[in-house]
Amino acid sequence: MKKSKRTKKSNSWKIKQHRDQFFKKSKILGYRSRASFKLIELNEKFKFIKNNSKLLDLGSSPGGWSQVASKIITQGKIIALDIKSMKPIKNVNFIKRDIFEEETKQIILNFFQGKLDIVISDMAADTTGNKSLDSIRTNQLCSEAIEFSTKILKPTGVFVTKLFMGDDFEEVKDLAKKTFKVVNFFKPDSSRVESKETYLHCKILKTL
Ligand SMILES: C[S@@+](CC[C@H](N)C(=O)[O-])C[C@H]1O[C@@H](n2cnc3c(N)ncnc32)[C@H](O)[C@@H]1O
Repeated sequence: MKKSKRTKKSNSWKIKQHRDQFFKKSKILGYRSRASFKLIELNEKFKFIKNNSKLLDLGSSPGGWSQVASKIITQGKIIALDIKSMKPIKNVNFIKRDIFEEETKQIILNFFQGKLDIVISDMAADTTGNKSLDSIRTNQLCSEAIEFSTKILKPTGVFVTKLFMGDDFEEVKDLAKKTFKVVNFFKPDSSRVESKETYLHCKILKTL
């Protein structure tokens, strides 16, 4: 077998193994999606979820991130929001709506009776098959989540989001840096190496 073919084969074997490893782990631990491990790793690194946090999970369905948050937040409050349905999770208040709908912000502020400690967003646009277009559409959601979080976060709040290393990556990065005093990038081990996704951890609004 030629060397390049062999390398390709062994790479795809590694990717499959990696995917299976987190898939199996999520089944054993009862998580609804492999995405749970990404939030677990992000929180191990930046330690932002506290037991009394007020947290909003944007693009929450099927619920992997909300499951992780609900295990830690025993005295705070959680809202999960998605345009798709989500099965109930203990301590999590799910609302089925679009982040772009006008009343969304007010509904959230009313529920928490004030501003929030944390906004996490794993929102992603439905895939079209065109990777470049998919990444642009998801990064637009990411920019929207940054704007949205400025209206609902406490000045010392934390914002975490998925982001794709696509054409408009720099634009979103600049927006995050304009909005928050601290901006960190992190690629969890549970995120596939070949995936262009990375994660942003931001804190402290620049208005402070
Ligand atoms: C990758 S999934 C999230 C997985 C989730 N974090 C988990 O751990 O199970 C992305 C989600 O973003 C949602 N989404 C996309 N556009 C949205 C919008 N405008 N408002 C709310 N949710 C949206 C999709 O419906 C989808 O369920």
